Amino acid sequence: MLKFNRISELLAYCALTLLSVALSCGKKESPSSATTDKQLIEIPFRATVGDEDFDCNKNYTLGTDNTQVQPKDFRYFVSDIRFIRADGSKETLELEQDGKWQTGNVALLDYATTDANCAKSTSPDSETRKVVRGVIKRGEYTGIEFALGLDDKTNHLDSATAQPPLNNPGMWWSWKGGYKEVRLELTILSDGAAKNKDYLVHHGATNCSGNSPETYKCTHENNLTVTLSGNPLASGVKFDIAKYFEGEKVQEELTQNLTTRQLGVVSNPSIRGCMAFVLDGDCEILFANLGLTFKDAVGGFTPSQKAFTLFASTTTTQNGDPSSIKTDANTCTDEKKRSVGDNCYLRDTALNVNLEVGDSNHASGANGFVSHNAGQACISCHQSKGPGKGLHTFSGTVYKADQSTPVAGAKVRIYNDSARTNLVKEFVTDKSGNFYSTSDYLAQLTNANKEYWVSVVDSDGTGEKKMMSPKITGQCSQCHVGGQRIWINK
Ligand code: HEC
Ligand code: HEC
Repeated sequence: MLKFNRISELLAYCALTLLSVALSCGKKESPSSATTDKQLIEIPFRATVGDEDFDCNKNYTLGTDNTQVQPKDFRYFVSDIRFIRADGSKETLELEQDGKWQTGNVALLDYATTDANCAKSTSPDSETRKVVRGVIKRGEYTGIEFALGLDDKTNHLDSATAQPPLNNPGMWWSWKGGYKEVRLELTILSDGAAKNKDYLVHHGATNCSGNSPETYKCTHENNLTVTLSGNPLASGVKFDIAKYFEGEKVQEELTQNLTTRQLGVVSNPSIRGCMAFVLDGDCEILFANLGLTFKDAVGGFTPSQKAFTLFASTTTTQNGDPSSIKTDANTCTDEKKRSVGDNCYLRDTALNVNLEVGDSNHASGANGFVSHNAGQACISCHQSKGPGKGLHTFSGTVYKADQSTPVAGAKVRIYNDSARTNLVKEFVTDKSGNFYSTSDYLAQLTNANKEYWVSVVDSDGTGEKKMMSPKITGQCSQCHVGGQRIWINK
């Protein structure tokens, strides 16, 4: 698909290659000793509940109160994976840069299909990812370590334009809060006050401040390194959700009392689970089972990592040629390995046109323009490393109350204030239910944090739905994708 259309581009490209790695363009690189002492490996990362593999179609019993749950979503990031030798020295696993699941030193694991309850998650499709692929030096190893989540710098990128998998929908709060490093969502099935309520685990950084991507700082990064003993060339990594929930009462929402240093029960919780914020007592238990101390812990738990273990796997070592995969995110030598979202993606600048739903070429309403890909994350393509015509600043799709029929003529109102009196922009959806713009309406926000508030109504102004929390990116479909739609109450 991507070609060097102009000779000059190719020449410029070769010159760059020459400068950086002193290879002549066009000559085939012969396998060097640097690559042959390495091997390509694929490490299985299993998610289980006890001995059973995590499956969106199954129900499970979790916690000390034996709660029946059905999964809704399970995804998490690992980064900085290293193999450990007997003498304690470490070798970094160079991850395959596949433009989808792995970038830099970060890999996403995704166990959410679109079956059963998981259809309601933000995981965009039925695809799962249960392995990490990379290249490691041959040798003998006695252990593996990896960070659960992301380093502090990566954690505060703008997800809308970050490279895959750092733009995976629903894995991000905001620049300030950063990513949901672990996203585990369950629905409670057991009879009682919690029946049919969600139990959400969103593990990430909290207590964050600052007002630019460079200055964000979180007092609670909640980062952790997991170290496991065993031969990583003959093992896979297992995350056991039953172990993660050891000691937890799933149906009770716990709160911390910092004065009495005790955990109490919230009688009418709006959300059950652990959102990583101080005062969320359930996190104390889940964090302890990861070996992580919760900030301002009051429950007296001793952190001890038990959720992750190694299991014997004969499929771990592959015989593939390590030079066949790309491990350096910045080498753009192989055109086939330039995928959408990748650093090496070459966008045709002719695509950078100004357009907006409702303009003369893109009529809105019932007879309007028929745009495409309703419900998908528009920004995955309509961005500087993608093929979409127009660089979207705002985009998404509005649905009816059934959350499956797109609505034409719905109004998406962007406000400068929480009282919703100061309207910055009103978009009217097109025939496909989509709205989009390439204009920088965010620049018109004058409130201190440059945040906006949203209401969505039908064409007649009724059926209003409000987003309670303000946002700083207009990429609505980055969060509202998969089963988590923007909808009007009609
Ligand atoms: C998989 C990549 C991809 C996704 C996802 C995607 N687009 Fe596109 N879009 C394109 C490409 C490529 C073009 C240009 C070629 C074409 O017209 O099909 C385009 C063209 C358009 C156009 C026509 C612009 C013009 O004037 O011709 C509109 C409008 C549009 N997209 C809106 C959206 C909206 C809204 C979303 C999300 C709901 C979206 N797109 C999601 C790739 C994508
Ligand atoms: C960073 C993620 C994110 C972005 C970006 C985002 N939303 Fe939301 N939205 C959420 C979350 C989480 C909720 C539920 C909590 C709340 O209301 O704040 C929500 C709730 C809503 C609701 C209310 C849903 C209900 O059932 O009551 C509407 C309407 C909505 N969003 C519209 C939008 C529109 C329109 C945009 C873009 C202009 C947008 N959102 C951008 C995450 C996001």
